Amino acid sequence: MNVVFLGPPGAGKGTQAEVISKERGMEHISTGDLLRGAVERGSPRGRKAKEYMEKGLLVPDELVVDIVAERVSRDGSSGSFLFDGFPRNLAQAKALDETLKRLKDRVDVVFYFAVSEEIAVRRLSGRWMCPACGANYNERYIPPKEEGICDRCGKVLTQRQDDKVETVKKRLKVYREQTADLIDYYEERGVLRRVDADLSVEETHKEINKTLTSLRKAR
Ligand code: AP5
Repeated sequence: MNVVFLGPPGAGKGTQAEVISKERGMEHISTGDLLRGAVERGSPRGRKAKEYMEKGLLVPDELVVDIVAERVSRDGSSGSFLFDGFPRNLAQAKALDETLKRLKDRVDVVFYFAVSEEIAVRRLSGRWMCPACGANYNERYIPPKEEGICDRCGKVLTQRQDDKVETVKKRLKVYREQTADLIDYYEERGVLRRVDADLSVEETHKEINKTLTSLRKAR
C-alpha cells in the first residue's frame, strides 16, 4: 500500500510518519529529510537545495523527483511506501504517478493533515531535533525528559534553520500557493482522507490507523 501525507509545515506529518511506517513496515520517504541529508553531505544536490530551503521555498522539481525515483526504485521490492512531504505540487504528483506506474503500482491513500496556521506556527517555534539520531521533540507538547538533551542518545538538541518565524511564514505561504491544490487533485481521484491534525499526537495517530486498517481489510 502506498500512502501520501499531505499538509502544511507543522501539521505533524513527520511525527506520524515515523511511527506509522515502523508499525506497518513501510518505507518512510521524507523529501525534507533526504534534502537535509544532501545539504549536510555538501553534495551538488545539497548545495543547490540549500539556497531554496533556507528561504522557505520549494526546491526545484527535477531535483526532488529524481531523489524520490532513486529511492523508490532502490527499495521497490518492499511494495509499501509512505511519502511524507512529497508531492508538493501538481508536477510532482504526476511524476509520482509515473514512478509508481513503472512498478505497476499507484497511490492508494492520501491523508490531508488539516491544521490551523496558529497551531502550526506554535508547534514549529517549539520544535527541537536531535542532530545525531533525528528524534523530534517539542518544548511545549513533547518535551525531552531533560531540557535540551535527546532522550535516546544524550546529544544536545538543535533547532531547524527554517523554523525561524519569518521563514515559517514563507513556508506556509508557499504551501497555500503551491501545494494546497493537491487536495482537489487527490479528492477527484477518490483517495483523499482528511485528518484533524489540530488534535494530539495520539488522537491523530488513532484516526490514521483506523483508516489504514479499514483500507487494508477492503483490499
Ligand atoms: P520538510 O522537512 O518536509 O518540512 P515541512 O513540510 O515544512 O514539514 P515540517 O517538518 O515542518 O512539519 P511536519 O508536518 O512534518 O510536522 P512535524 O511532525 O515535524 O521540508 C523542509 C523544506 O525542504 C521545504 O521548505 C522545502 O524547501 C524542501 N522540500 C521538502 N520536500 C520538498 C518537495 N517535495 N518539493 C520541493 N521542496 C521540498 O511536527 C512539527 C512539531 O510539532 C514537532 O516539534 C512535533 O514534535 C510537534 N507535533 C507534531 N504533531 C503534534 C501534535 N499533534 N500535537 C502537538 N505537537 C505536535
